[in-house]
Amino acid sequence: MQEFSDRVAVITGAASGIGLGMARAFAARGMNLVLADLDEAALARTVSEFSEAGIRAVGRRCDVSKLDEVEALADKAIKTFGNIHVACNNAGVGIPTSARRMKLADWKWIIDVDLWGPIYGVKVFLPLIEEAGEGHINATSSMAGLISSQMMGAYNVAKHGVVALMAATERELRSKKSPITASVLCPGPINTNISRNSVGFRPGKAKPKADGEKAGKMARNIQAGLEQGMDPNEVGELVALAIAENKFWILTHPRWAKGVQNQLDALRDDQTLTRA
Ligand SMILES: NC(=O)c1ccc[n+]([C@@H]2O[C@H](COP(=O)([O-])OP(=O)(O)OC[C@H]3O[C@@H](n4cnc5c(N)ncnc54)[C@H](O)[C@@H]3O)[C@@H](O)[C@H]2O)c1
Repeated sequence: MQEFSDRVAVITGAASGIGLGMARAFAARGMNLVLADLDEAALARTVSEFSEAGIRAVGRRCDVSKLDEVEALADKAIKTFGNIHVACNNAGVGIPTSARRMKLADWKWIIDVDLWGPIYGVKVFLPLIEEAGEGHINATSSMAGLISSQMMGAYNVAKHGVVALMAATERELRSKKSPITASVLCPGPINTNISRNSVGFRPGKAKPKADGEKAGKMARNIQAGLEQGMDPNEVGELVALAIAENKFWILTHPRWAKGVQNQLDALRDDQTLTRA
């Protein structure tokens, strides 16, 4: 996509972290913003930040795991600005638990938000972007969408699904020579509040340590890793650049792709999951 100025971007999970970083990068390029989040107070603060800076921005509370709320978000965008050119299906949650022991309520919550959210996003926003005749659809996966590490049960499953969803979408768009492009963001560690925010939305709101010592230790390690992670505003810039350059894969830590290569080598050479 070449032109950002005066185009319209819809971003979910826009009140914090990576979504907010994308909103800032798009605003800096002259886009109008439709910002969605489940956290209404944070969303109101975010919309004010942009409005006070003279950016045309509106907010709408939206639970991305509910189709009618995603449809209402699209309606709000069309009624406010007339078109949608860029949609970033970014809202997400995650907690560390083992695939075997994970509670079904946690499986359902994470798959609903992290996978059904982007599925609804493609279903609802892509036809509207096609109507606009130019634009881009993106979803946020993770390195956990390329390699499944232990203790991230449902998160791995959802994020692999997001990669598959966006890869299939991009292939279909290219095969019909569409002017629209698609991409998937696969971040490594980014310094956001995802751990705290996720516990707040989790059914029952239990902290990972309630699931056992291993889950508690993993949560502490993840938190320490995130605090050393990339600034989410930098991620927003990478996303805007990738959209401008028609990239499909958006990696924040490309050197981590070595893990994907190791897994492919093991698959080809001896069909083990990881080499000894
Ligand atoms: N932070 C990282 O290191 C990292 C790494 C890889 C992938 N990701 C992915 O990046 C995306 C953004 O995460 P972040 O790190 O910026 O976290 P964050 O918690 O800072 O931001 C996520 C936002 O999504 C919102 N949200 C949660 N559930 C929602 C729902 N059902 N509907 C609408 N909004 C909802 C939260 O209120 C929050 O504002 C997520 O998809 C996450 O899985 C993050």
